[in-house]
Amino acid sequence: MKIVFATNNKHKLDEIRDILGPSFEVLSLNDLGCHDDIPETGSTLEENARQKAQYIYDKYHCNVFADDTGLEVEALGGEPGVYSARYAAIKDPNAESHDSEANMTTLLKELEGKTNRNARFRTVISLILTSPTGGQVELFSGIVEGEIIRERRGGEGFGYDPIFQPEGYDKTFAELGNDIKNTISHRARAVAKL
Ligand code: IMP
Repeated sequence: MKIVFATNNKHKLDEIRDILGPSFEVLSLNDLGCHDDIPETGSTLEENARQKAQYIYDKYHCNVFADDTGLEVEALGGEPGVYSARYAAIKDPNAESHDSEANMTTLLKELEGKTNRNARFRTVISLILTSPTGGQVELFSGIVEGEIIRERRGGEGFGYDPIFQPEGYDKTFAELGNDIKNTISHRARAVAKL
């Protein structure tokens, strides 16, 4: 089955292709020839995931899914959550948006002196199919619980992976690598439902 994943994030594409296996041909936005800046203006992960898939479905009328992910930190009341990609820039208007290094630095600073390091990644995937019974948005979510460690560890993965240690492991996602991450992660769990 051919299906568009509404992203150009290479890490996410690799993860999803790996998890879904060879029976799916997963196309990126570049593969589709879509270079639009797709709006992501929702105040929840669900709204953003829905918005991205709907945009592509309305424009190209193809099978499509989109994801939106947030890191929810207990001691920060669920921050950065839906603002995970822009966290540093929200806290400091001079900082770059969508900069993982800056985002991790900001988060570690916000958690300085806090003993509660509990956090979870949450992914929401939205799916729209072109089949006769399709055309509706379906949502699937996946969560992995863990904690934010005090320093960066590991060189694999992306985003906040070097500071997130999943429950039951003594290594971060960036140390565990994709083979293990892709069996236990928030995205893997949402994809399993998808
Ligand atoms: P988005 O889903 O691309 O909007 O991601 C929001 C933020 O979370 C970005 O800063 C990503 O780098 C980060 N992020 C998304 N998925 C992961 C993941 O699997 N591991 C670590 N960071 C992630």
